[in-house]
Amino acid sequence: MRLLLLNGPNLGRLGQRRPDLYGRVSLIEVVERARTHAAARGATLAHLQSNHEGALIDRIEALDFEGLLINPGALGHTSYALRDAIEAAERPAVEIHISNVLEREVWRRVLLLEDVVIGQVIGRGWPGYLDAIDVLLDRLEAG
Ligand code: DQA
Repeated sequence: MRLLLLNGPNLGRLGQRRPDLYGRVSLIEVVERARTHAAARGATLAHLQSNHEGALIDRIEALDFEGLLINPGALGHTSYALRDAIEAAERPAVEIHISNVLEREVWRRVLLLEDVVIGQVIGRGWPGYLDAIDVLLDRLEAG
């Protein structure tokens, strides 16, 4: 199974940016752990982090994956374009937020991807990426 992991704006600085909220583990480390976790279940994991909405959408449009994992960063609260790209891909997708966006500023409670994803993993820190892989692979393996 081929999975695609997308990380949106500002997530490239994971580990340095607001460690009180997002932890001290770098994005490279998170991706490595996620790859190991996916591989243990027989899946591959391609990854892109981008600060640019269009680059994320272009990557989705390549459609070279069976399932999508996405931490959209703040784009998850603002981007109808990203929402539409995920809907158009017609692949199961799981949304990840490291912090508990439901208990932060009011504007972070707006989750524009929620009706086009099969699940959301919110507020579980970096291990949420592993939980999201399990949710996605459970769905894909169920057919
Ligand atoms: C985030 C939450 C977003 O509100 C924020 O803009 C991020 C990170 C998270 O993983 O908790 O960049 O997606």
